[in-house]
Amino acid sequence: MSRVFITGSSDGLGLMAARLLVADGHSVTLHARDQARADDTRAALPQADGVVIGDLSHLAGMRQVAEQANASGRFDAIIHNAGIGYREVRRVETQDGLAGVFAVNVLAPYLLTCLIERPDRLVYLSSGMHRGGDPDLDDPQWTRRRWNGPQAYSDSKLFDVVLAFAVARLWPDVLSNALTPGWVPTKMGGPGAPDDMSLAPVTQAWLAVSTDPAAMVSGGYFYHKQPAETNPAARDVPVQDELLSYCAGLAGLKLPG
Ligand SMILES: NC(=O)c1ccc[n+]([C@@H]2O[C@H](COP(=O)([O-])OP(=O)(O)OC[C@H]3O[C@@H](n4cnc5c(N)ncnc54)[C@H](OP(=O)(O)O)[C@@H]3O)[C@@H](O)[C@H]2O)c1
Repeated sequence: MSRVFITGSSDGLGLMAARLLVADGHSVTLHARDQARADDTRAALPQADGVVIGDLSHLAGMRQVAEQANASGRFDAIIHNAGIGYREVRRVETQDGLAGVFAVNVLAPYLLTCLIERPDRLVYLSSGMHRGGDPDLDDPQWTRRRWNGPQAYSDSKLFDVVLAFAVARLWPDVLSNALTPGWVPTKMGGPGAPDDMSLAPVTQAWLAVSTDPAAMVSGGYFYHKQPAETNPAARDVPVQDELLSYCAGLAGLKLPG
């Protein structure tokens, strides 16, 4: 039995993965943005161990999440699943002055990786759209460019793979992988999404706990439990170092060695 923490598990793929893990006898801690969503989450999966509360769109909320997660004890696996989507019609600025898509999708997994006690496995939710992402960090907060929601999302999901691969390289004692769940009709995916909903939460749960040798690797990117093609920038060490250093500057915290 593993202890697993899943961010953004009040709904969608995070909650679905939690259900799979609980059904297999694992101990799962959920996460919701505020007390009201935590109440919904607890009601949706009463068998979960608990619900950590915090808004991942700002640094103070990210720190609250890390503090509560650490107070509950060390996790065997953490799934960085929380995300916001590609249909943001305008740049939403967070209270830290960042673009919301970057804050929730990139800075939050970075800061939580830094702050939560190191688990055995880390899993980062990316997307097939990461392949169209641009690793350039010239204007990651979209303050100079005209807003393009799908591009901002694709960039953020590329950065998730970059982060997963950087952690795999720098923390050889941890299995760190990324995946795409496919395009499925969650709140984010929208009603017209074509992929198989029943398969979508499986890979993140599998990477978190399975003893299948295919899951016990590091620095992989998966689709439906199979290795899949990544944007080549994700394996580029200078790109990885630049992202880590940029996030460290925003968060005021370097990834521990
Ligand atoms: N669905 C797809 O087709 C698809 C495709 C590729 C990749 N993905 C990735 O899969 C992951 C899960 O997506 P999903 O489809 O399950 O999306 P979803 O149904 O919209 O669920 C997203 C989860 O993240 C939480 N969340 C969002 N912003 C938050 C914030 N500021 N603070 C705390 N929690 C926050 C949401 O909370 P609330 O319930 O309170 O909003 C919800 O629990 C994402 O990383 C996404 O990029 C999804």
